[in-house]
Amino acid sequence: MTVKLTVHPNQFQSELKDLYGLFFEDINHAADGGIYAEMIQNRSFEFDPIDHPTYHALYGWETKDGLPLEEERLSLRVLSDNPIHPNNQHYLKINCHNQLIIRNKGFNNGLFIESEAVYEASFFAKADFNHQAVMIELQDEAGIVYDSAAVEINQLKWQRYKVELRSDKKLRNGRLALRFKENTNLSIDMISLFPADTFKNRVNGCRNDIAQKLADMKPKFMRFPGGCLVHDGSLNSQDRDSMYRWKNTLGPVETRPPRRNSWGYHQSLGLGYFEYFQLCEDLGAKPIPVLPAGFDPHHQRAVPFSELGEWIQDALDLIEFANGAADSEWGSVRAEMGHPDPFHLEYLAIGNEEVGQAFFDRYNQFHAAIKSVYPEMQLINSAGPFAEGSEYERGWANARQNQSDLVDEHYYQSPAWFFSNHYRYDRYSSDDPQVFLGEYASKENKWWNALAEASYMIGLERNADKVALACYAPMLANCDHVNWQPNLIWFNQEAVYGSVNYDVQKLFMTKQGSHNVAYHIDQLPEDHLIDDNPITGQIQLKADGAEIHYRDMIIHNKSTGEKTSVSSSQLSANDLIAIGNTDANHYSISFTFEKTAGRDDKGFNLIFGRRADDHYYNWALGGWQNQDCLLSAVHDGSDSVLTQSIWRVEPHQEYRCHIEINHRTITTHINDELFNHIEDAPYVMKSLYTNVVYDQETKKYYVKLVNAKADDLDIQVNCQDHNMAIKHSLSAAVTAKNSLDQPNQVQYSCEKYDLTTDTITIAAYSVVFLVLKTTDSI
Ligand code: AHR
Repeated sequence: MTVKLTVHPNQFQSELKDLYGLFFEDINHAADGGIYAEMIQNRSFEFDPIDHPTYHALYGWETKDGLPLEEERLSLRVLSDNPIHPNNQHYLKINCHNQLIIRNKGFNNGLFIESEAVYEASFFAKADFNHQAVMIELQDEAGIVYDSAAVEINQLKWQRYKVELRSDKKLRNGRLALRFKENTNLSIDMISLFPADTFKNRVNGCRNDIAQKLADMKPKFMRFPGGCLVHDGSLNSQDRDSMYRWKNTLGPVETRPPRRNSWGYHQSLGLGYFEYFQLCEDLGAKPIPVLPAGFDPHHQRAVPFSELGEWIQDALDLIEFANGAADSEWGSVRAEMGHPDPFHLEYLAIGNEEVGQAFFDRYNQFHAAIKSVYPEMQLINSAGPFAEGSEYERGWANARQNQSDLVDEHYYQSPAWFFSNHYRYDRYSSDDPQVFLGEYASKENKWWNALAEASYMIGLERNADKVALACYAPMLANCDHVNWQPNLIWFNQEAVYGSVNYDVQKLFMTKQGSHNVAYHIDQLPEDHLIDDNPITGQIQLKADGAEIHYRDMIIHNKSTGEKTSVSSSQLSANDLIAIGNTDANHYSISFTFEKTAGRDDKGFNLIFGRRADDHYYNWALGGWQNQDCLLSAVHDGSDSVLTQSIWRVEPHQEYRCHIEINHRTITTHINDELFNHIEDAPYVMKSLYTNVVYDQETKKYYVKLVNAKADDLDIQVNCQDHNMAIKHSLSAAVTAKNSLDQPNQVQYSCEKYDLTTDTITIAAYSVVFLVLKTTDSI
């Protein structure tokens, strides 16, 4: 049967505005060792064990033989008296009698040097006395020199020196080497190597190839700089491990303080707020900074209310930095950095994935203060780290109370969850604050995941009156420094590739459209119900590093009334024991437990509805750092958090627990208090996910179609006088995955159709956009 889709041109519905954008978190070395084009790792000898236990001031530097560089008494020392700037304390002091060579191989397995490309090498140096010299060289791993420049150092005070280097051969294991001849006496710091060709030729700019990948998506906005990076840290902005404080990131790079990145590495802050704003401008994306609200949910640190003023002032100053006149206090800082014109900040997020009332008590004050000065600023509140549960509810309640403009939702779920929750936003009210889906992804970089995301994006668009902004997360990953998977774009020093998920995002983003358009669809095959089975199967107890004693455990079949007792026992370390099995549609499990020993941040798990290793449900009692009471579902080996509430297991305390499963609805109580209540929605696959938009700029209609099923589907499209269509199609095997070696596993095709005569086949497992045309003008 052929599906018939009829577009009603000029019947415009909700606007899509800034719907699709990017989320830049400095995770996976996204900034240093990533898009920030600096090629030298630890250019300023500031690496420190606070950033990562293996770090030290000479981390990343090596001898001429490739051995880790170490201090040598008198000849090679890391000193900190009279530095370039008090924020940048350490530098290298060379007083060598013999020739000395030090080298740096960057962030991966060697510098990638493109043949004949120009590289700008620079450093700050200070001579002990006149006529010092440094030879700066591009070498390969073996020490063969491909280009060099001699630099005379005659100043007895810190001064920057800069040379250009180029190699006639492509190097994959390149080194930047500094050669000091016998009897050299000088100090040196900020040893840097940048490609001359940065994105939009910015000084201190971005890697062209990575930034171009972003530009190719035509993002409407970019959220930055995190993520947990923003609020995981100490309260004192002067601390090395402080939360991300934007004022630390301004000014000349040699004056920016070194900081610990909470993802376990060093951040030079070379890519700072000015550079983020500039990158947004260069990408044509509206900036969406995320500020901490003086609360760290990871370590439960909260700034006292009496000191919150400084944090709120930071927010007000940031708005002035972005939008204020060039002669205003903070606008002048922007102007001095080279951008007298404003950056046109419209959105500002306070907080990221916030958990706990302490955040919301502080948000209230941010909101009131910012709105009183900048009523037009679109303020974004937070709805916690999960799609449902106490923190999600708390965030939404607070946003309604404050009339926040948007609420930031985050979830990383299985493909099954995305298909099952396709109608999530149809149930939202357009009278509420709007949704900013600030972080989402299904759990892998395979085509099946990308298809699930594509189907979900159709639902986001349909609800564009409620969902204002959405971005995949995280965005960037250095292949050799992975904190998190999946990611949108992967790279090493030489190459960059988009995941298959990127291909989907790019298609949706480059053809977003400005308005939804009315259409109707006939002869669409029925939706396919994949799983609406009751949650039945094996029941297990799984320790999570803590010792648990349990007793009075009863499995109650509510359909038959039968009760089965489980003998009391003890779980230790990583024990996993089966305690029963049920095929009842309606049952409960009740028990009392006590944590008798084990780490403070550990609890235990009750697994239920287990039908296979890759299909089960989990009730985590003291999950994620012992902060959660959380229900999750694992379908096809991929897990989703269904709902979460804050809760922690205290040692040597008894808890009476009860979980009731009625078909697919799960309810939990602890000590008679309700903690979770959720239905695992039936897993339904539509035979075709569809939306139609109009794009004001190109004056074209786009018909967006996602076929996530194993069968091809034929469609005829009718749109009055639009008699032609260009079909842009992405398709792949469901397991297809891009990689550095095979970066294009998704087949892209572009074909022309005559809508008056042609039936268009939407291939199995494909995402198809039809661009409708009135004339044959391809
Ligand atoms: O995107 C990676 C992390 O996921 C973010 O830092 C955090 O907000 C979320 O938990």
